[in-house]
Amino acid sequence: MAQRITITAALPYTNGPIHIGHLAGVYVPSDIYARYLRLKEYDVAFICGSDEHGVPITIKAKKEGVSPQDIVDKYHIMIRDAFTEFGISFDNYSRTSSAVHHKTASEFFKTLYEKGEFIEKETEQLYDEESGQFLADRFVVGTCPKCGYEESYGDQCENCGTSHNATDLINPKSAISGARPTLKKTKHWFLPLDRYQDFLKDWIVIGHKSDWKPNVVGQVKSWIDDGLRPRAVTRDLDWGIPVPVEGGEGKVLYVWFDAPIGYISSTIEWAEREGKDWEPYWKDKDTKLVHFIGKDNIVFHCIIFPVMLKAHGDYILPENVPANEFLNLEGNKLSTSKNWAVWLHEYLKEFPDKQDVLRYVLTANAPESKDNDFTWKDFQARNNNELVAIFGNFINRVVVLTKKYYDSVVPEPGFLLEQDKYALEALKAYPKIISNAIERYRFREASQELMNLARLGNKYLADEEPWKLIKTDEERVKSIMYVALQIAAGLAIVSEPFLPFTADKLKKILRAFALESDWTWRGIQEGRELLPAGHTIEPGELLFTKIEDGEIEAQIEKLKTSKEKNESEQSVVDPQKETIGWDDFAKLDMRVGTILTAEKMPKTKKLLVMTVDTGIDKRTIVSGIAEHFTAEEVIGKRVVVLVNLAPRALRGVESQGMILLAEDADGKLIFVNPDEKDGLLNGLKIS
Ligand code: 2FM
Ligand code: ZN
Repeated sequence: MAQRITITAALPYTNGPIHIGHLAGVYVPSDIYARYLRLKEYDVAFICGSDEHGVPITIKAKKEGVSPQDIVDKYHIMIRDAFTEFGISFDNYSRTSSAVHHKTASEFFKTLYEKGEFIEKETEQLYDEESGQFLADRFVVGTCPKCGYEESYGDQCENCGTSHNATDLINPKSAISGARPTLKKTKHWFLPLDRYQDFLKDWIVIGHKSDWKPNVVGQVKSWIDDGLRPRAVTRDLDWGIPVPVEGGEGKVLYVWFDAPIGYISSTIEWAEREGKDWEPYWKDKDTKLVHFIGKDNIVFHCIIFPVMLKAHGDYILPENVPANEFLNLEGNKLSTSKNWAVWLHEYLKEFPDKQDVLRYVLTANAPESKDNDFTWKDFQARNNNELVAIFGNFINRVVVLTKKYYDSVVPEPGFLLEQDKYALEALKAYPKIISNAIERYRFREASQELMNLARLGNKYLADEEPWKLIKTDEERVKSIMYVALQIAAGLAIVSEPFLPFTADKLKKILRAFALESDWTWRGIQEGRELLPAGHTIEPGELLFTKIEDGEIEAQIEKLKTSKEKNESEQSVVDPQKETIGWDDFAKLDMRVGTILTAEKMPKTKKLLVMTVDTGIDKRTIVSGIAEHFTAEEVIGKRVVVLVNLAPRALRGVESQGMILLAEDADGKLIFVNPDEKDGLLNGLKIS
């Protein structure tokens, strides 16, 4: 029986359209994987859907003065259509507002409840008196207790990825009214992650150390080392799945409790439609379950969801969670609010027949082990120098010469020389090479091997020069063209996971549908004849076309406009804060100081640990500036220090003060820097 595999791709939030970052991080790699496994004749369920609950949707609805349902209806269609347009071959694309999902998630919750897997607790939660509601998740922002990022959300810090409780935030502020929240008692159900600490450690940190990506295991290990705590899985909100147990009135399931169950409900919906049984896809221990996600989702897929599945007891656990890093755009973080993105619906308008080009570029440059940058110049270069000049050129030569010499009929080969046999052997070897890379989730490498097969074809033709030999040795040319045609057919098969539209076009050119030969991954590996002599192909169209400089300049110009708009919005200075009394100001003790030593806090991206001579003493200050300055460049800098700020521990190091910084027009931090020549000695008071 075919190996069964359930592949899930993170359910996108339906609070906006999707962009290239989504495609690169999750949907193109998962689609390559699913298409490849189908070609290998696995029993695949490739599952996704819209994530339609959660606070971001409510916030967007409030902003636009419409209902959350209006928002999810609009973006569900838009996102679903974008996936279809880019050939993302989900077996089912569902939505979490569907009845089947509400039922599945409610039943899941009830099972855990009945098994006594929750802790039911009345706790104090953040409450906004002005808007009269509890502040869950993204309704509250504040300083991350782990990395010091000041814009962390209530449930997760986007800077360091930590998932926390809203009450853990330092200086919380309501995202609705800006008010400082009060604490109010409310009852919730908590999933005691701490009870599963040892299980998680054995399963991932020890069990999967070598076959999971190091960034995934590293993050899990760091959370486990910090100690897991019970997490509330219900919320005082009105948009979501009602809590289905006594006392749950007016409360809904936490979006991160219901969303991953969306994978299960989408599978159920698919199985019902296809007349299949969904259960083996989630419950049979021989099924392989793989979650494709971005790195900000690691905690939910490697800690919370596995604990839910384990606590339930009927389900299998993921075999792998190949999380990707982030894609940047032209050197800057992709940002919806700053319109710093390439939106898929806009791309399609501007490059209507180039879905595969984007798929290829995003794969060849995928952020697999580190954040990567998408640039329009690289996009153009990969199209013109690889897809057009290597892949397209090879196919074009084969098709044109077959037409010219044989009126598009595959010739009967004569005696095969060493180089012909070598080329056919090399073709046979490629599926294995590409498989190896795909099965290790190395899609970049796999895409380069695909291009190497096209290179092999080009080199073969360039070495054998049929266009010269045709004048002197017609028989030899028949063998050459026969071999080249087999390579073209091989390309049509192995390119399918990466370039599905191109593979389709190529199969049409080669008229594969009229053949009974074994056009499968295995077929190539076993050296089957893909295109027999006597078979007629089409004269064909070009597979790829060049992208001109003007088209790229237009895209760069478009981004420049976004940038200028952002800068002009940024240059609007923040409104003045509430007036404070003289006494408040007099409480601040600011001194001139010098940074004596600095080093990066291990395992953090943003934190520098510095020793600062304040004139009063030499003290440790931890600051979240490592993305703006290297340790070396701050040593010796003269700075202004707020010395009487209450000490605070950041990652276990006590920070004893704050260095004053300002932001320049590009958002870069600069020190408020007293010039030594003016004689400002360390310890001098600022007043
Ligand atoms: O980060 C996100 O966009 C989430 N909507 C992903 C959810 S994945 C899953 F668990 F549903
Ligand atoms: Zn953080």
